[in-house]
Amino acid sequence: MATIPVAVAALLAAAGPAAAGTSGSTGAGDPYFPLAGNGGYDVRHYDLTLGYDPDSRHLDGKAVITARATQRLTRFDLDFKGLKVTGITVGHTKADFRRDGQELVVTPRHTLHKHQEFRVTVTYQGTPKPVTDPDGSLDGWIPTDDGAFVAGEPQGAMTWFPANNHPKDKASYDFTVTVPKGTTAVANGVLRGQRTSHGHTTFRWRAAEPMAAYLATATIGKFKVEQYTTPDGLKVYNAVDPREATAAAPVLKKLPSVLAWESSVFGPYPFKGAGSVVDRAPQVGYALETQTRPLYDRAPSLGTLVHESAHQWFGDSVSLTTWKDIWLNEGFATYAEWLYTEQHGGKTAQQNFDALYASPADSDVWAFPPANPGSGAHIFETPVYSRGAMALHKLRTAVGDKTFFDILRTWAADHHDGHGTTAQFIHLSQRLSGKDLHALFHTWLDTSGKPASP
Ligand code: TRP
Ligand code: ZN
Repeated sequence: MATIPVAVAALLAAAGPAAAGTSGSTGAGDPYFPLAGNGGYDVRHYDLTLGYDPDSRHLDGKAVITARATQRLTRFDLDFKGLKVTGITVGHTKADFRRDGQELVVTPRHTLHKHQEFRVTVTYQGTPKPVTDPDGSLDGWIPTDDGAFVAGEPQGAMTWFPANNHPKDKASYDFTVTVPKGTTAVANGVLRGQRTSHGHTTFRWRAAEPMAAYLATATIGKFKVEQYTTPDGLKVYNAVDPREATAAAPVLKKLPSVLAWESSVFGPYPFKGAGSVVDRAPQVGYALETQTRPLYDRAPSLGTLVHESAHQWFGDSVSLTTWKDIWLNEGFATYAEWLYTEQHGGKTAQQNFDALYASPADSDVWAFPPANPGSGAHIFETPVYSRGAMALHKLRTAVGDKTFFDILRTWAADHHDGHGTTAQFIHLSQRLSGKDLHALFHTWLDTSGKPASP
C-alpha cells in the first residue's frame, strides 16, 4: 500500500474503515460486560451537575469529564443509556455525536493526539430509568417514593451520567446536586457546602480519591441527617429515611467502632469521608458499598454494615480489573464479617467454614468455582461470597494468623487507590508465606463442585 499517494491516503483515513485505528474501542475488554467501559482514553475527573425533581422524576444533567487520550483519537465512546443528550463539546468546540445502544459515540472536531488531556462536556436531561442486570436485579437510578436510590454495580452508572463505565478506569468526582428544599442529595466523599434559595437546595460533594463509576451515588430523599467527627478524625455523614431510623440507629451507632476495628485489621481507612445512606427502597433488595458512604435499601444488620464497610478496603480502594474477579470483593467482605463475629464473641471463622462445608454437594455453595462465575448473571451468587470467604479461610489456616493478616494489610496498602487481580493476590500470598499455595487456591477458587476435603 506504500504506493498510494499521500493525499489519497489522507482522504481514505478520514473517510471510514481506515480510520478505525484511531477510534477508541466500544468496551474495556471485560468478558462478562463487553460494552462496559471504553478504550482510547483515561478519565481523570468527573464534574457532575444535576438537578432532580422527585415529583416529576425529571433530571437535568451536565457532565464535565477531564480525560487523557491513551492513543490518537478521531472518535471515542462514553457509556450512556437512556437520557436525551442535548449537546457535547470537546474543549470549547461542539462535537458530533450519535447513540448506539449504551455507546455514546463522540467525534470531536479536531483529532486528539496521544497523551492529550481533553475536556468533554455533555448536557442531558430526561427521566432516568434503572437497567436490569443479567441476574434480573435493578441498578442505576432507581426512583423511590421520595427521591431516588442511586446504585451502579455493575452497570448502572451509565443511567445517570456519561462514563467510562468500568472499574479499570477510576477518577475523582465533584457533584453539585440541586433538589427541592426539604429533600437531601447525598453523594460520595465530603460535603463541601449546602445552600438553599428559591425553594431549592444545592449540595456540593467531593470524592477526592479515585473511584470506579459503579461506586458513585447521588441518592436523593427525605432524610434525617447526622454529621460528626470520629475520635480518629474521620468525618461521618449519615442520611437516614425517618421510616428506617429506629431500626437503623443501634447499628449506625457502631460505625465508628466498626471502622476503627477494620482499620486495626486491614490498615488505615482509605478515604476522607465516611457515613451511610439508609433509604427505604424495597424494590432493590441489596446494599451497595458506594465509596465512602455505603447505601442501604433498608435499615442494615450489623453484619451488612461490617460487610459494606470492609468493601471500602476490598473493592473500593483496591478495585477489580475484570468482573470475573468479583470474589476479591465479595469473598473478602464476607470474610470480614466472619472475622468480626469471631473477634466480638460470636462464632469463629472456623465454625462458619465448617457449617458451610457441611452443605450437601448439590447445594448452591458449590454451584460454580468462585473465581469463575461463568457470566455476569452469577457475579452476586453464593459461591462468590461464601466459597470466596472459605478460600481465604483455607489460606489463613495454611499460613497462620500472623502471615495471613500481614497478607491482607499488604494487599490493601500495595494496591490502595488502584487495582488488584486474583493472580496478584496469589503471588503476594506465596511471597509473604514462602509457601507454594497454587494447589490450595486452585482447589478453592477454580475447581467445580465440592472440594473433597475441608
Ligand atoms: N456488592 C453488593 C454487596 O455485596 C451486592 C450487590 C450489588 C448486588 N449489586 C447487586 C447483589 C445486584 C445482587 C444484585 O453488598
Ligand atoms: Zn459485598
